[in-house]
Amino acid sequence: MEAKPYLQQVPAYRPGKPIEELRRELGLKGEIIKLASNENPLGPSPQALEAIIKTAPTVNRYPDGAAFELREALKETLGLSPREVVIGNGSNEIIDFLIRAFVSEEEEIIISRPTFLMYERFVRIAGGKAISVPLKEMRHDLGGILRAVTSKTKIIFLDNPNNPTGTALKIGELESFLADLPLNVLLVLDEAYFEFVRDQEVVSGLSFFRDDERIIVLRTFSKAYGLAGLRIGYGVMAPKIATILEKIRQPFNTNLMAQVAATATLKDRNYLSRVQRIIWEGVDFLNRELVALGLLPYPTQTNFILVDLRRPARPVYEALLHQGVIVRPMDSYGFENCIRITVGLPEENQRLIKELREILQ
Ligand SMILES: Cc1ncc(COP(=O)(O)O)c(C=O)c1O
Repeated sequence: MEAKPYLQQVPAYRPGKPIEELRRELGLKGEIIKLASNENPLGPSPQALEAIIKTAPTVNRYPDGAAFELREALKETLGLSPREVVIGNGSNEIIDFLIRAFVSEEEEIIISRPTFLMYERFVRIAGGKAISVPLKEMRHDLGGILRAVTSKTKIIFLDNPNNPTGTALKIGELESFLADLPLNVLLVLDEAYFEFVRDQEVVSGLSFFRDDERIIVLRTFSKAYGLAGLRIGYGVMAPKIATILEKIRQPFNTNLMAQVAATATLKDRNYLSRVQRIIWEGVDFLNRELVALGLLPYPTQTNFILVDLRRPARPVYEALLHQGVIVRPMDSYGFENCIRITVGLPEENQRLIKELREILQ
């Protein structure tokens, strides 16, 4: 029995450590906090919970594969035509669809290094190749990316803002990039963290994707909308590209609970502003406190902060685990001295700072 040879080179994905795994491994008794996977600390919208409870008795039926209600809600709230939207089992699934639809074996995508790990994983699984261009001053190097384009390049993936650095591209930078990008290359703007952006010069691809058929925008309900555990996200694109992805999509790729919860959350306008307020206050608090500890937090447009500890970060990460605090070590992203902290509730942020202070002393 032999799998495709190139699969042997694909490393296993290492997600943020789950709370229960840490409890089992270290036998910890007290409260464990997880600030590792850029999740929303607030819990889901009460309206999403209500929709889930109301829908639970009907899970003996398949969901509406076309997710009609959710597309309607996206039309009402964001002005997106249902023909422009493909709903995925997390926005991860849309990344997978795009690669399966457009990248053949031996063809290429271009990504930054480091960036969100799934672009490279999906392309390698498909037998294609990821060409990675190092970040420049912690930002996407758009000039370097343009120089890396070849006749094999099919898609460029830019997470805007970038995970793990938290930096975002301004509209002017994107406009000049598009002007120089060959017409046959797709540009995916992955806006998983867009709802947390505060910089006014950072503009969503949703406001200009209709001007250029090469642009695809990804959005998720896993972050600001608090539904990571249900797995639902979407891609926005020209209808002719959406039609291609719809051919790849399994008939029931998103589950019923995810669909009703996402629809309800979109309609709950108060929820998003509550989340934004708590995350922005958390970012400001953590930045102040981290600087006071002599550390270097990178400015962020997201719900996480990349922090340079100015020493090897692994031992600090391990020590935090023993105190029941899970953050993300960044050595696998090439940042030996950094951890990535997801902004939590105020008391979680305070606890992190307290534990960090004790460890660093
Ligand atoms: C940049 C980026 N894109 C996409 C995702 C995946 O989101 P989803 O949960 O919708 O698959 C993440 C999650 O961490 C991310 O950081």
